[in-house]
Amino acid sequence: MILITSANGNQGKRLVPKLLTSGHYVRACVRTYESAKQLRALGVQQVLVGDLADPAFITHAMKGVRSVYHIGPTLHEDERAMGFSMVDAARAEGVGHFVFSSVLHSIATDLIQHEIKRDIEEYLLCSGLEYTILQPANYMLPSRMKAVFEEDVFRLAWSLDKRQSMVDLEDVTDVAARVLSNRERHAAATYELVGPGSFTAHDIGVVASNVVGREITVERFDVEVFVRERFGGLGPSAGQHLLRMNLAIASYYSNHDFVGNSNVLSFLLGRPATSFDEFVRREYANFRQGLKTLSD
Ligand SMILES: NC(=O)c1ccc[n+]([C@@H]2O[C@H](COP(=O)([O-])OP(=O)(O)OC[C@H]3O[C@@H](n4cnc5c(N)ncnc54)[C@H](OP(=O)(O)O)[C@@H]3O)[C@@H](O)[C@H]2O)c1
Repeated sequence: MILITSANGNQGKRLVPKLLTSGHYVRACVRTYESAKQLRALGVQQVLVGDLADPAFITHAMKGVRSVYHIGPTLHEDERAMGFSMVDAARAEGVGHFVFSSVLHSIATDLIQHEIKRDIEEYLLCSGLEYTILQPANYMLPSRMKAVFEEDVFRLAWSLDKRQSMVDLEDVTDVAARVLSNRERHAAATYELVGPGSFTAHDIGVVASNVVGREITVERFDVEVFVRERFGGLGPSAGQHLLRMNLAIASYYSNHDFVGNSNVLSFLLGRPATSFDEFVRREYANFRQGLKTLSD
């Protein structure tokens, strides 16, 4: 049985069908009953609803598990404790393979969510568990492209001139499915998962303009306004944590490029990794057909 956390998120909703198609027995953890319903409709054999911030829930979720795919929920204030509890529970249960979804350049610890993942990587490394660590670059997010196609503008909360590498979520989850299906091959490995090339916001605008056949402009927006508008309803502690994290992200990405190399990803896939141009073409085709994307 494979336990997957954050199972109805960006990665999870793409990975779960791939695991089921490969014949795996899946136990999925989510926070809401609505997500549980969606995953059961996909055919997931066991869905648990609970809070990963509660170690008792994690202990319960780990019972009888052979392999784990742990994804920390995005920018959660308890992400580090969740990761440590997952490792502790896996060790107590004698789990055979712990696969951790980390992040590209987890050593870039000025980024708070990277510092947390670096700590979890170290904790896992020292646990004695058989492990694989995946380090994806920034996701190519279909939901972000939808806004571009609708409004003809690409908005970013940091410098429009710094370069970033990105990765397609289908590629990330293809690799995760392979890794979870072949522990022997992937044991003790740490893999950077990066799509080809690197892009400034202006480059992204050019690619999108070429695909849609009209000009897409690029615009910088204020990160504090973004956090207040999007997460204003959160309690003071979670709200402050999100603001702190997003300010660190905007500052880091305004002062540094964030670039990786796609060789490892192509090697693992046995084909070239998906390019940003291919991703935008695919998403624009979906958009024009009125198809719901997995990130809607
Ligand atoms: N975004 C990027 O570009 C990027 C790049 C590299 C790495 N990462 C890292 O990848 C991770 C996020 O991956 P993702 O985007 O696939 O996940 P995600 O979309 O943030 O995950 C959302 C899922 O997590 C569940 N969840 C949220 N809070 C929970 C809690 N307290 N207890 C139990 N479940 C909870 C949600 O449940 P419900 O569905 O029930 O609400 C949902 O299914 C983060 O650690 C992020 O730092 C992100």
